[in-house]
Amino acid sequence: MTLPASAPTGTPAATPDAATLAAFQAAKGFMPVDEGVALYAAATGAATALRLPLLEVGTYCGRSTILLAAAARAAGTVAVTVDHHRGSEEQQPGWEYHDPEVVDPEVGLMDTLPTFRRTLHAAGLEDHVIAVVGRSPRVAAVWGGPVGLVFIDGGHTDEHATADYEGWTPHLAPGGLLVIHDVFPDPADGGQAPYRIYRRALASGAFTELSVTGSLRVLRREGGRMSG
Ligand SMILES: C[S@@+](CC[C@H](N)C(=O)[O-])C[C@H]1O[C@@H](n2cnc3c(N)ncnc32)[C@H](O)[C@@H]1O
Repeated sequence: MTLPASAPTGTPAATPDAATLAAFQAAKGFMPVDEGVALYAAATGAATALRLPLLEVGTYCGRSTILLAAAARAAGTVAVTVDHHRGSEEQQPGWEYHDPEVVDPEVGLMDTLPTFRRTLHAAGLEDHVIAVVGRSPRVAAVWGGPVGLVFIDGGHTDEHATADYEGWTPHLAPGGLLVIHDVFPDPADGGQAPYRIYRRALASGAFTELSVTGSLRVLRREGGRMSG
């Protein structure tokens, strides 16, 4: 694992405390520990340097949200996490990542919101998270202020990943961090949509890569206006 050599203003990399790590590991979700530690380090760096909200696309059951919330708590800011809670394509019945435990039997659709709320309550982090239930591009369109970190882990189709990138990166403050999950340069390892937005961010000239940990990429937004 490669932790960022320095956070936006040179803040040392941080690791989650034992309780946060235990809560992360106990939560339903897909992120391995090394990627979680890298996400936490990025979140801590951004939160400490900028004291702006940390924004996540793709809450699911709160596994990664725990890390953003703990980093936000330490820095005196807040994590905002966005999800419609109906699951991504690959989480629907019959697909590889489906979990029947998160289907609402009354409506017959996935609903990860109750599990997410239980996860956050058990971790003692409810006061440090604002959960937004809705489609990411619609939330981004009405979002009104700068954020210190954008973590993209929502829908993994080109349509969704592109909309997340285009919707949220304009809200990212200069010096803030763009973190993208499930970046697989080799198509044999996974879908290419997150990789394509990662390449697009680098090609725009607006971002510098800080770290690579498994499929997690941490980029820093440089000053000036974004294009591309
Ligand atoms: C891979 S999971 C997120 C995993 C989570 N970050 C973790 O570490 O456990 C993707 C989530 O994105 C949500 N999602 C997919 N497309 C979305 C969209 N357009 N707007 C909001 N949420 C979306 C799904 O409902 C799903 O819960």
